[in-house]
Amino acid sequence: MADSDNERYHEWSPAEYMKYSNFRTQAAQGLIRRLADQFGEDYLPNVNTVIELGSGPGNSTAELARSCPNARIICVDRSDNMLVAAMEANLGPNVEFVQGDLEHYILEAGADLIFSTNALHWLRKDTRIEILQRMFKSLCPGGVLAVHMPDNVRQPAHDEMRATARITFMEWSDDFHDRELRFFREKLDVDPVGEAFIYHLALKKLEDAPIMSFQHWIDFPQYRFASTRDIVDWMKGAELRPYLDEISNDNIREAYLSEYESRLKAHYPTNTLLSTQKSFVAVREM
Ligand SMILES: C[S@@+](CC[C@H](N)C(=O)[O-])C[C@H]1O[C@@H](n2cnc3c(N)ncnc32)[C@H](O)[C@@H]1O
Repeated sequence: MADSDNERYHEWSPAEYMKYSNFRTQAAQGLIRRLADQFGEDYLPNVNTVIELGSGPGNSTAELARSCPNARIICVDRSDNMLVAAMEANLGPNVEFVQGDLEHYILEAGADLIFSTNALHWLRKDTRIEILQRMFKSLCPGGVLAVHMPDNVRQPAHDEMRATARITFMEWSDDFHDRELRFFREKLDVDPVGEAFIYHLALKKLEDAPIMSFQHWIDFPQYRFASTRDIVDWMKGAELRPYLDEISNDNIREAYLSEYESRLKAHYPTNTLLSTQKSFVAVREM
């Protein structure tokens, strides 16, 4: 895969993503609430250093900045557009930004809290585990790793996105089929998040960073949209993005979206999209 392709697939539209920021930010709000419930109301205000992995346009960072007013918050993301949007959100002097791929990111010093919402499911399975192990080892003793990942790759809205791309003899078919193997193998987060015990086992293995406790849970939020087109727009803000990038022009892109939308109508007659979300909190031994 050429580097230029690689870069192209890493870009986002913060405006499209934030169109449904109320739904998207629920993950960070929920994870923060969980930390307060688990460690007490004094925990977050006393945290010194937070690393946010895949911080995006600043929506989840704003929640962290509000909850951890005394912390230095370091946001790591590889997308130019997302980082610019986050910087423009003026989240305060305690928030810093690092552009980089999590695959190669090394913390310069230990952190008290490593936090991530709506991001690590974009990584391939082995890379995701390797990053989580590296991050867990970088925590200060007693530090906390708190991670949320949507796990929706087998939901109809995702299946239909792939199925629509695979239809033959449509205007968009050549855009996908010539390079189908490369596209479907390399570009997308087709690896499901998997069960929580996978993450527990991966952290338990780390002899130089013993695990003290591990909690996990699964949520099934239901997002209600005004129309099927709004569900399409929701998907355009995230998972549909690499598919639309693959299509060669706007007219063809619109034809693909229109076919995708008509397929969604059969699955979501009430315009309600169900999402499976997996989260865990792991604490490093003191
Ligand atoms: C959907 S946004 C999440 C935004 C925010 N954290 C939230 O909860 O809504 C996912 C972010 O993860 C970033 N990301 C995905 N894979 C990454 C990687 N390998 N390295 C760095 N950032 C990555 C993307 O650039 C994007 O900004």
